[in-house]
Amino acid sequence: MAAAGRQLLWAAVSALVLASEAAAVAELDDSFKENRKDDIWLVDFYAPWCGHCKKLEPVWNEVGIEMKNMGSPVKVGKMDATSYSSIASEFGVRGYPTIKLLKGDLAYNYRGPRTKDDIIEFANRVAGPLIRPLPSQLMFEHVQRRHRVLFVYVGGESPLKEKYIEVASELIVYTYFFSASEDVLPEYVTLPELPAVVVFKDGSYFVYDEYEDGDLSSWINRERFQGYLNVDGFTLYELGDTGKLVAIAVIDDKNSSVEHTRLKSIIQEVAKEYRDHFHRDFQFGHMDGNDYINSLLMDELTIPTVVVLNTSNQQYFLPDRHIESIEDMVQFINDILDGTAEAQGGDGILQRIKRIIYDAKSTVVSVFKSSPLLGCFLFGLPLGVISIMCYGICTADTDGGTEETMATKKETGDRELTDEGSEEEQEEENKDTELSDGEQKQKNVLDKKKD
Ligand SMILES: *[C@@H]1O[C@H](CO)[C@@H](O)[C@H](O)[C@H]1NC(C)=O
Ligand SMILES: *[C@@H]1O[C@H](CO)[C@@H](O)[C@H](O)[C@H]1NC(C)=O
Repeated sequence: MAAAGRQLLWAAVSALVLASEAAAVAELDDSFKENRKDDIWLVDFYAPWCGHCKKLEPVWNEVGIEMKNMGSPVKVGKMDATSYSSIASEFGVRGYPTIKLLKGDLAYNYRGPRTKDDIIEFANRVAGPLIRPLPSQLMFEHVQRRHRVLFVYVGGESPLKEKYIEVASELIVYTYFFSASEDVLPEYVTLPELPAVVVFKDGSYFVYDEYEDGDLSSWINRERFQGYLNVDGFTLYELGDTGKLVAIAVIDDKNSSVEHTRLKSIIQEVAKEYRDHFHRDFQFGHMDGNDYINSLLMDELTIPTVVVLNTSNQQYFLPDRHIESIEDMVQFINDILDGTAEAQGGDGILQRIKRIIYDAKSTVVSVFKSSPLLGCFLFGLPLGVISIMCYGICTADTDGGTEETMATKKETGDRELTDEGSEEEQEEENKDTELSDGEQKQKNVLDKKKD
């Protein structure tokens, strides 16, 4: 009896939890277009068959619950973009899952890591005020401790402020925008004139100069990273928007030998000491391990090493000697700038063909690695069938034309392979579509959408 009671209670609790989850994340349909106008929405556009969407689902439910518990004005929803494809394409959805924050006429794409905290931080940042005033020194210090890169507008109403607001409405996807009066800033700050836009970072501050730095938007895009970064795949992808060359020490973070640690500090020093010379064209940092960079460059770099990537055309530069001092590194950078260093890679047609072959090869390798038996079956079976067929053809057909038939048979074999694709292969394929979609988005950072 007691057990039955407990079961009933458990069922009730589960139902409650389910109900609250359902309420926290709205399943959206056709009516969304009319009903959304007065609210700010955070929407996951998904496809029922997509593996990454399934992975996101529990995270998305947590996001919904937490936003609700926080009393956030942002409503959280999800839409099956395959069922409502016309609405989804109106919002510019091209891959799955796509996360967007919709605020009035503007649609902001989320491209960060798909974790609860990162998504919630993004939603709060983008949904909140574009410009956040810092009314006191205390407030300034508090905010400075929390943000490694901090943009502040200083001064009263002005055309520069209007420009600042305009830029913020686009770049709020990446960073916060603050405003303050001059007396709120730390004492070490001296501004040549007011109004001014200042970035606080790397233990210092830099003032925007319209004549030297070009338009405000591209300056903020260039300055929104710290001078020296711990670079991972995602950061590298984000750095693509800056059009800078990225100079990284590729090292093993856990290796405390002098070769590794020295390379890291050389780059760190160059980033700091030569900022005035190089910061417009270069971003500096280090990367832990060479797996990512090798697959990106389709090369076999041995660590520790230095590599400089051109994020605009995917070319890269390797030093022709060991980098053992700051002077070596500066020399290497100057060689790149004056064109004497030889560029490798790139985005030409040959590189793209190489990429396709490389990706196909690594897919085969990864299938074999994760499950050798499946690999043998997937790739062995068609090969076996082809050999038997070839044997049959060769023994039956003695006069010429064999090669042509063989070629056709082989093609059929290959096609069968993709059609029968296992779960894993499909997953791999999804990943690929996603990646190329991501690359596309790289050009088009923010999808500003007017209804
Ligand atoms: C650290 O790096 C050095 C130089 O590359 C290498 O010879 C050594 O084996 C590495 N040590 C470890 C523990 O990986
Ligand atoms: C990087 O790529 C861009 C775009 O192709 C090019 O204009 C620029 O000269 C390249 N930079 C270097 C240092 O090769």
